Amino acid sequence: MISDVLSWLSCPHCATALSPAAPSGSPLRCEEGHSFDVARGGYLSLLTGSGTAGTADTPAMVADRAAFLAAGHYAPLADLLADLAADAERGVEEQTCVVDLGAGTGYYLARVLEAVDRPGIALDISKHAARYAARAHPRIGAVVADAWAGLPVRGRAASVLLNVFAPRNPSQMRRVLHPAGRAIVVVPEPEHLRELIERYGLLAVDDRKPERLRAQFADRFEVAAEHPLRRTLTLDAAEVAQLIGMGPNAWHADAARVTAGAEVTFAVRAYVLAPR
Ligand SMILES: C[S@@+](CC[C@H](N)C(=O)[O-])C[C@H]1O[C@@H](n2cnc3c(N)ncnc32)[C@H](O)[C@@H]1O
Ligand SMILES: [Zn+2]
Repeated sequence: MISDVLSWLSCPHCATALSPAAPSGSPLRCEEGHSFDVARGGYLSLLTGSGTAGTADTPAMVADRAAFLAAGHYAPLADLLADLAADAERGVEEQTCVVDLGAGTGYYLARVLEAVDRPGIALDISKHAARYAARAHPRIGAVVADAWAGLPVRGRAASVLLNVFAPRNPSQMRRVLHPAGRAIVVVPEPEHLRELIERYGLLAVDDRKPERLRAQFADRFEVAAEHPLRRTLTLDAAEVAQLIGMGPNAWHADAARVTAGAEVTFAVRAYVLAPR
């Protein structure tokens, strides 16, 4: 719930602390008097202006993502993240939280909070995703925010910062991360979903190159460890359509064309990054 994470959030306008609503149900306020409502869906919007809303996942994408992930196809990645997060936060004595930047439905964050007994902040620019994340685990506070703006999170708040297939903002990630904490960043490898890319002419995303990721983070983080993860998924036609529909290809491919199941390569790499 939002109350679990309020002490780590900050006002997106003036960066001062947010105070609990009193009486409950009234808006949250910062020290300068900016006020914010918790939506009926249980998430808090700290978005200022229009944001880069064009990149927010749509209701259809979020529904496909929730259904696909619930079937467990990406569970090995969730398990890996839980192990890495438990390791990463062991060095941090202070009260901190886990932050997931671009959290989507909160699937990975919820799994990580089973292994890490701290509150979790799910940040995403999509309110449709935030609505799912708010329900994904009792200790998740779901916040609508733009990764390209200053994150509405206090400095050093996170002992673990997750970023899974989502926009990366290294300077904000560095600010929010506790100096003894770790960022865990997951990116697809070139073979990821290869069969679907070939069969349906999907986008092959260019920023998959490991050198790019290293260069992007080089000023602020060093790579402490890398964990490649590879599986072959056996999917039926409905699952193939969901997998296409939940990602960037939802904008370009016609999932209605999917009439057959497929064996699909799952290939990603998790980077554990230590602040410099
Ligand atoms: C490919 S999804 C990954 C979601 C989740 N990490 C997962 O793997 O299930 C990318 C997510 O980034 C979010 N997103 C896109 N642009 C964003 C931005 N500027 N700030 C924050 N989140 C953004 C989308 O709404 C979407 O939920
Ligand atoms: Zn304020």
